[in-house]
Amino acid sequence: MSKLKLTGIHHVFPNKKGHVSVLADIHLHVEQGEFVSIIGPSGSGKSTLFHIIGGLVQPTSGEVWLDGEKVTGKKGLISYMPQQPALFPWLSIEENVALGQEVAGESRTSAIAKAREWLPKVGLGGYERELPHVLSGGMQQRVSFLRALLSPQELMCLDEPFGSLDALTRLDMQAWLLNIWEQNKRSILFVTHSIEEAIFLSDRIYVLSNKPASILEELKVPFARPRQEAIMQETAFIALRQRIQGLLRQEKTNDVSH
Ligand SMILES: Nc1ncnc2c1ncn2[C@@H]1O[C@H](COP(=O)(O)OP(=O)(O)OP(=O)(O)O)[C@@H](O)[C@H]1O
Ligand SMILES: [Mg+2]
Repeated sequence: MSKLKLTGIHHVFPNKKGHVSVLADIHLHVEQGEFVSIIGPSGSGKSTLFHIIGGLVQPTSGEVWLDGEKVTGKKGLISYMPQQPALFPWLSIEENVALGQEVAGESRTSAIAKAREWLPKVGLGGYERELPHVLSGGMQQRVSFLRALLSPQELMCLDEPFGSLDALTRLDMQAWLLNIWEQNKRSILFVTHSIEEAIFLSDRIYVLSNKPASILEELKVPFARPRQEAIMQETAFIALRQRIQGLLRQEKTNDVSH
């Protein structure tokens, strides 16, 4: 049984001109303990897909299945890191991190203790009692990431979690995430614009088309784990990167709005 299964997801938003079709017939799955990435053009509907998985948006048609149960439109079942950090400005950093655990039923004391234990690991030791506005965008992103990481739900959906980080911090965070994931093998669905990041981290990658998005291709990533940064130099890695780049370039050429 798949951890997550999406069947025939279509989504249409109303807009000034009438409506805009964003997702067209998305079928995808994430198995227990699998790391799956989604890569696709900007505006293709990736965040919308995450809103649908999280129950924040009801799809026009199609179904969301979690552990074999139909959960379309139900909230609170996944751990979710949105594209924008979404921190509460009046809560301290540690309270913001603890929130995901508290909402899921964890006691406040233990949630705060866990937040304090983990903040230094993402380079935020010393900021526990500060308010979000004193942090840079990349630091806020790490707070939001930690909130999702410490939330207890089995499936984690991360929407461009490392998008605002500098290149070296990003590499550190990738290695760190892989390390944690290799230890406890939660199921992860990960959106990124970085082809290298998708290949380095994932077991499988879905490449999306322009909107209305459908799945152009599903690629298996063949590298053994644990993985080291050095695999990025391997011929097979470069070939896979070029394959994905080719698919995305084709989409850009096809995009009439550019
Ligand atoms: N609430 C909404 N109402 C109307 N249109 C929306 C709404 N949310 C998103 N859209 C439209 O749906 C399309 C897909 O948006 P979405 O944010 O899902 O794209 P994305 O793939 O996550 O892009 P990016 O890579 O830039 O984050 C866009 O054209 C956007 O304008
Ligand atoms: Mg998005």
